[in-house]
Amino acid sequence: MSAVDFPVLRHACAETLSARGAFDGAPGLRAAFEAVPREHFVPDRVWLPERDTSERWRLLDRQMEPVQWVRRVYDPDTALITQLDDGAVGRTGPAKGEFTSSLSCPSVVVWMLRVLGQVQGAVLEIGTGYGYGTALLRAWLTPVRLTTMDIDSSVAEQARRLLADGGWLANVITGDGEAGHEAGAPYAGIIATGSVYRVPPAWLKQLSAGGVLVMPVATPFGTDALLRLVGDGQGGAAGRFVGAVAFMRLRGQREPGPWSVYGWGRLPDYGMTLSPSPDSTGQRIWLAPGDRSIRAIRVVRSRGVAEGRPRRPCCAAHDRVRSQPVRRSSGGLRTWSSAPFAVRSRRRPIGPGRLLGRCAPVRRDGKHAPLVRAVGLRVPAGSPGLGAP
Ligand SMILES: C[S@@+](CC[C@H](N)C(=O)[O-])C[C@H]1O[C@@H](n2cnc3c(N)ncnc32)[C@H](O)[C@@H]1O
Repeated sequence: MSAVDFPVLRHACAETLSARGAFDGAPGLRAAFEAVPREHFVPDRVWLPERDTSERWRLLDRQMEPVQWVRRVYDPDTALITQLDDGAVGRTGPAKGEFTSSLSCPSVVVWMLRVLGQVQGAVLEIGTGYGYGTALLRAWLTPVRLTTMDIDSSVAEQARRLLADGGWLANVITGDGEAGHEAGAPYAGIIATGSVYRVPPAWLKQLSAGGVLVMPVATPFGTDALLRLVGDGQGGAAGRFVGAVAFMRLRGQREPGPWSVYGWGRLPDYGMTLSPSPDSTGQRIWLAPGDRSIRAIRVVRSRGVAEGRPRRPCCAAHDRVRSQPVRRSSGGLRTWSSAPFAVRSRRRPIGPGRLLGRCAPVRRDGKHAPLVRAVGLRVPAGSPGLGAP
């Protein structure tokens, strides 16, 4: 296949992604995608995440299967594996082993960039791989400073060379990305392409106020979840999960601890309510109270002045069993984040994403308007501690 076919294939890949809405709300991202030749970053031999009959990963060799190679380079949904077992396995044939470096598939790379958004300022990427995502970051955001880190020196060296060859300016650092790169901080954007159990504190510390952190987080549900956080500039951040992904873990986070250590509930902490209707509208999954001695919670009344911010909704939750107030909050996001459990109101269990219950806006004079039943009220995007609706 001649070199002139690559832009055509890239365009076709962009068309497929575009039809799925992959570039929606991200001006310039498609142009950047079409400007960066993915083939430049793909070695002649890669493993496909597909097993042969002997349970080995299939090796795709450009010399042996040139058409297949090109097709896979521009398949929106194929990740190309470049390293197994931290490089212990040579790229010489089909092999067994753990994926330890890859080119993530185009659909996921583009999605993560879209989730990051058009941040203005310095950007840090954790997990350079061979540098394809780095080149897209450079082409799309043209950040003042683009720093990318990979823990594997041979991978980082290859990326350094490939990026320099194509003229994509980036500071490629060999090192443990969990420590971030203090010298380039603060970052308006941090994007990690390896998943974590625990968000490294250095990332939060190095994120500017309003900066965006996008990373896959390991969950107890058999999948990683893509998390988007916005930093507060003081080492804290809040955000929410935006979807499911599957990533290799960052090197230092390969051994999981008990899920509770990371703040996750266990499966029994989630509940499901089924109504008689047979379709999905009759089904709701909700996050149950962590303290299972509290069997029913209801919002009984609004309380407190909204911390000097009138007209914000307020709520208080009562433990119906013990008749004790268990959580109480007022004002803005906190109101909702204080109730990341199913609230039972009028004998209807409800989900955390759609807080049904009795909520009252606080009037300017600090008094409460009459209680209203806030049916269908959406929990604001970005509320911390809430499960997906
Ligand atoms: C999925 S690959 C990167 C994909 C790449 N960003 C792309 O656009 O195709 C993940 C990379 O993270 C690197 N990695 C693993 N642990 C790391 C760590 N603690 N710090 C930095 N890089 C790490 C691996 O060596 C691997 O190259």
